[in-house]
Amino acid sequence: MNIKVNPHKKLHGIYQIRIGNGRSTLCTRNLAPGKNVYGEKLVKHEENEYRLWDPYKSKLAAALLKGLRTVPIRSGHKVLYIGAASGTTVSHVSDIVGSLGCVYCIEFSFRPLRDLIIKVSPFRENIFPILADARFPERYRMLVETVDGIYCDIAQPEQARVLADNADIFLQDGGWGLFVIKARSINAIEDPSKIFKREVDVLKNRGFNIEKIIRLKPFDKAHVLVLAKYRN
Ligand SMILES: C[S@@+](CC[C@H](N)C(=O)[O-])C[C@H]1O[C@@H](n2cnc3c(N)ncnc32)[C@H](O)[C@@H]1O
Repeated sequence: MNIKVNPHKKLHGIYQIRIGNGRSTLCTRNLAPGKNVYGEKLVKHEENEYRLWDPYKSKLAAALLKGLRTVPIRSGHKVLYIGAASGTTVSHVSDIVGSLGCVYCIEFSFRPLRDLIIKVSPFRENIFPILADARFPERYRMLVETVDGIYCDIAQPEQARVLADNADIFLQDGGWGLFVIKARSINAIEDPSKIFKREVDVLKNRGFNIEKIIRLKPFDKAHVLVLAKYRN
């Protein structure tokens, strides 16, 4: 089978793979060869292995396909990931930051964190799982250093405030935020566009400059992803 892998022209650390006559698909280079995380396909090419990145399972991949033209995550970055769950998107962030970077993973639900600890982090030295409630960042202050960026996907009320409270403690000035807003988690009745606007306004008032807002339809109907820079 003919396999072509090319670094994405605009997205650092992300590749495009084409298998046979199929469509080109996003993927990251697997930091833990031989291991997949959420059933994604692994493809060996030359001396590397790549993991296909499913936009229906990872909102970051959906945002990339919907026009997020720059990914602020770089090799070597330290990332605070809030709402890590069992590590689907975390694992791709881990691939991108590589062995010189690290991903601090905050998750308050024991079951997904257990899966992250058993199935993912033993094979990826750059992942640090932390069982904690992100609404109280001072409780894990001693476990996390200053970071280059925060990815926040918690599907909870006051999600923008939670991101900003964490940014005040952990995010360096000029750092980036990738923020998933789930309108229905905040209010089941209110118009989602009003909720998105209100959450974005919270970020602006707390020192974030909004660079891009991406709607994730058709991959995900209820969410938008916001790219923002902090105090720059
Ligand atoms: C939508 S899932 C995250 C999916 C994940 N970002 C991915 O793409 O693989 C949201 C997660 O946030 C967690 N969560 C919600 N509120 C939280 C809080 N206050 N502190 C820590 N984790 C929280 C939930 O337990 C859930 O696992």
